[in-house]
Amino acid sequence: MKRIGVLTSGGDAPGMNAAIRAVVRSGIESGVSVIGFKRGYNGIIMQSDDQRDDFELLTGRSVSGKVHRGGTFLMTARCLEFLDESVQKKAIDNLNKLGVEGIVCIGGNGTFSGADALYKLGYPTIGVPGTIDNDLEYTDYTIGFDTAVNTACECVNRIRESSESHERASMVTVMGRDCGEIAISTALASGAEIVLVPEKEWYIEDIADRVKWGVMRGKASMIMIFAEGAVKSLKSDLSKLCQKYDALSEVSLHRVTSSQIASIIEVLTGHETRATVLGYTQRGGAPSASDRILATRLGVRAMQLLRDDTGGRAVGIKNNAIIDVPLSEGKLSRVSANLELINMISEVS
Ligand code: F6P
Repeated sequence: MKRIGVLTSGGDAPGMNAAIRAVVRSGIESGVSVIGFKRGYNGIIMQSDDQRDDFELLTGRSVSGKVHRGGTFLMTARCLEFLDESVQKKAIDNLNKLGVEGIVCIGGNGTFSGADALYKLGYPTIGVPGTIDNDLEYTDYTIGFDTAVNTACECVNRIRESSESHERASMVTVMGRDCGEIAISTALASGAEIVLVPEKEWYIEDIADRVKWGVMRGKASMIMIFAEGAVKSLKSDLSKLCQKYDALSEVSLHRVTSSQIASIIEVLTGHETRATVLGYTQRGGAPSASDRILATRLGVRAMQLLRDDTGGRAVGIKNNAIIDVPLSEGKLSRVSANLELINMISEVS
């Protein structure tokens, strides 16, 4: 191929810019020109009034000064219309008209589904895993995960200092959608006492007992890392619990939040418990060196595959080697369940 496209889609992840840069710079080096499409799949549907807002030719200079920046300069979005086959066909038409022979799609499993759909319609696509969630089974790491975990650890360190000063327990909610990878890694690296993830059933009464046990042992602080999807694996009968304690009469049972879980733990233990939701702080910020290097290695491989007329692949890393697998395999989710290490070293397990 002589002309390819690149887009970033879904939630932004630190290191996406480094991946775009790698596609562009290695493309130019191989005699392949690269068009950047904006706002994910919206850019190839080309719905803007002014098409200059949908795509641009990327030069070596346009990606200069980007490697250390978080976010994505091509911008990103989720694009529900893209589930529709007629919209996918229109996108292929647009790409053909521009002479774009294949496209690199950087994002998570939603992005890979879009790329796979285009490939099944005969258009060459390559998926590059860019998501903080690290929730794709085929690759050891996704771009952005390392930075997000480092950011979360830094926040937990700060929360720990405040919690110790007040002798409180703290529940810290991290992202990850249906996957516990960010939570487990953050807990391991920050020395959290308890971690709750969507992949493992848990009872709030057990967690309260562990907090009480920690207090009895004289622990000044207790950090619980709560994966945002862990509400789904909570097995306690909350309505029964809330009926039992007047202090819990305000808890709304149809949409339980991690802050409410912290309040319930406070009531069950009689120990002050505070909640912090880290939210989008985990997505922003300068990418770590590891993420920049991973993004560069993956971006180069993605470009090489298209240059050599290969599509329908997802690039990833396994045992430190860059690999590629069929896109249909690449979009499968990881089920993270490795809690053993944490339980082995936690004082309140
Ligand atoms: O997939 C990345 C992610 O940050 C998830 O961890 C989180 O559940 C989701 O995106 C949030 O998405 P949005 O940006 O649409 O709020």
